[in-house]
Amino acid sequence: MIHVALLGFGVVGSGTAEVLTQNKSIIERKVGQPVSIKYILDLRDFPDSPFADRIVHDFNIIVNDPEVSVVAEMMGGSHPAYDFTLACLKAGKSVVTSNKEVVANFGTELLTIAKENGVSYLFEASVGGGIPIIRPLREDLSSNNVTAISGILNGTTNYILTRMDNEGASFADVLKDAQRLGYAEANPAADVEGLDAARKIAILAAMAFGKRLNPNEILCEGITSVTAADSELAKEMGYAIKLIGYTTRMNGRILAMVSPRLVSRYNPIHGVNDVNNGILVNADMVGQVMFYGPGAGKLPTASAVAGDLIDVMAHTPAGVISPVWVDAEPDQIADPETYVCRHLVVLDAPKSAEAEISAHLDLNAPHFTEGRFSFITEELSEAEVKAKIAEVGYPLITRIRVL
Ligand code: HSE
Repeated sequence: MIHVALLGFGVVGSGTAEVLTQNKSIIERKVGQPVSIKYILDLRDFPDSPFADRIVHDFNIIVNDPEVSVVAEMMGGSHPAYDFTLACLKAGKSVVTSNKEVVANFGTELLTIAKENGVSYLFEASVGGGIPIIRPLREDLSSNNVTAISGILNGTTNYILTRMDNEGASFADVLKDAQRLGYAEANPAADVEGLDAARKIAILAAMAFGKRLNPNEILCEGITSVTAADSELAKEMGYAIKLIGYTTRMNGRILAMVSPRLVSRYNPIHGVNDVNNGILVNADMVGQVMFYGPGAGKLPTASAVAGDLIDVMAHTPAGVISPVWVDAEPDQIADPETYVCRHLVVLDAPKSAEAEISAHLDLNAPHFTEGRFSFITEELSEAEVKAKIAEVGYPLITRIRVL
């Protein structure tokens, strides 16, 4: 019998208990022995839950119980989730998690501690909800040099952008729906301001390139300034606006960034809508592969947590090999100002300004509506596009990078 403890009984925690119960027989066949949820740690009581008798409020009961060999951390937030994870790993318990904040901020240390203690630290559910992406990067694609990863990594913002696009729905109403459906973070600012996606692209960059960038220091722009007019314009030009996490290597340095991007209808992630995530991995041997599916939500995320639990339990006591990475040194990190791409520029300018503006910038797909002069530039760095817009002199309404 393997005894598991769950830390957190919110959306993902309760989903994981449900998966372990509903699919008990499949899971036990794969693990090779019975599996029991011995404890569930939460601040609250759940008197009406079938798991009411497993609820505990004191973490020490779990960390001090030698029968518990595997712990799933689904508390969210950095503290005490990080502290509890560290204590479990030091006590010789493997930990699996959906907590991207802890993995992105403290993953280097936690992976090292796991290795020193001969246990596993796995986090498939931390990126892409139910989509397999961490394990494929670690195993199936491990013979490749990854050249770039671009992805829709946040279900909440993709759900919001899709509904704004399809229905012209208001940002606030759609966000409320995303919260009700259990997609949004406890503080949805992390979703709409891009930090959740920044944590996820930092994890993917670490998996791809072996170096962790601080998610709080990468270029991060959310969707709060994207308007219905921008969305409409993008559609007319054959694009969709998506919040994109992007990582690549530039002259040996790692670039990671999150921002709204125009995605062409010819790009396979153009059609990734609603709560779904879509992740494109470009690598030298395989070419391009896409990972697609539900990026948030109770059972999809719990499915990924349970997959890691099964992996660990099937390999206990030997342990699964955890991913390995180190923190990036400052001179290994690319300056996003030097990143080159095309840009959608919307200026507050009359149609008659076309000749004047084209003296400074290539105007691809020029478009004019109600005092908004829009076009797509040639490939320019941040510094170049800012300088050229300043030279043109008309007020900038919007600038959105093209993927
Ligand atoms: N708030 C996150 C999202 C949850 O919307 O993608 C899944 O990580």
